[in-house]
Amino acid sequence: MRLSGRLVLVTGASSGIGWATTRRLAHAGARLALVARRREALEALAREIQSGGGMARAYPADLGDPTAVRRMAEAVRRELGVPDALVHAAGAGRWLFVEETPPEEAVRMMQAPYFAAFFVTQAFLPGMLERGRGVVCVINSPAALQPWPGATGYVAARWALRGFTEALRLDLRGTGIAVCSVVAGRVRSAYWQHNPGAIERVPRLARLIPDLTPEAVARVVVRALEKESRLVVVPWALRVMYALHPFAPRLAEALVWRTGYRHPRAGRRG
Ligand SMILES: NC(=O)c1ccc[n+]([C@@H]2O[C@H](COP(=O)([O-])OP(=O)(O)OC[C@H]3O[C@@H](n4cnc5c(N)ncnc54)[C@H](OP(=O)(O)O)[C@@H]3O)[C@@H](O)[C@H]2O)c1
Repeated sequence: MRLSGRLVLVTGASSGIGWATTRRLAHAGARLALVARRREALEALAREIQSGGGMARAYPADLGDPTAVRRMAEAVRRELGVPDALVHAAGAGRWLFVEETPPEEAVRMMQAPYFAAFFVTQAFLPGMLERGRGVVCVINSPAALQPWPGATGYVAARWALRGFTEALRLDLRGTGIAVCSVVAGRVRSAYWQHNPGAIERVPRLARLIPDLTPEAVARVVVRALEKESRLVVVPWALRVMYALHPFAPRLAEALVWRTGYRHPRAGRRG
């Protein structure tokens, strides 16, 4: 998809991957609808883009709430129209074992990213289908391909997001709407401050893979939108880990268990 002049809605635009992607899209000439909960952060970014000659508007909403999503979508359609592309970058979730996770937090982990992507897509899909073209791009975590210990609710939400993305791609085949997944390794964003305790649980194996900046991921997302790619995994070293999971699941599991965060009741033998 050619991005110049196109309307792109980015969720998670107040921080990290979504924030950097929004700026990169503005640079490519896209018009932007910025969505997240923090109004001031969205408005500051919208102002920055406008002062550079671009077009951006803030639509604060808690995307885990279907009513808030419906209201946000009505406002976007009324003021800017139906987006040509959606970038789903909103997401959160601490890394916790099941018995460490309060039930309400387990629900919140599913609300963003999974339900956020579901509800936002649902809100705009009829208009996109009518137009007969568009791109839905989902940012996902390596956890969606290879689970690791000590982050059960987080991992489950990323598998839900992966299932949603892959099912949606099949549903929309032949409609003119492409569905794209960008899976990024560890990104130096505020995610790690927003979700304390996660950094300590990154498997040592994953520490061998170089970190990314939000800007590097943003470049990949913009290219994926332009090419309407199916799946992009960055950095390349992560693709090796990914390839291992379906073909040698026991080996992949043993590697992440040996190098991962150990359950306090786990013995030394896996
Ligand atoms: N950082 C990494 O290493 C990495 C790597 C691969 C994939 N990912 C995934 O990519 C996603 C974004 O990560 P990030 O690094 O950009 O994290 P981040 O800097 O913490 O940004 C998360 C964004 O999601 C928004 N958000 C969270 N809950 C929301 C809700 N209920 N409603 C609306 N917006 C919500 C936040 O905005 P408000 O607080 O303003 O609502 C923020 O803009 C996450 O799902 C993460 O798992 C991250």
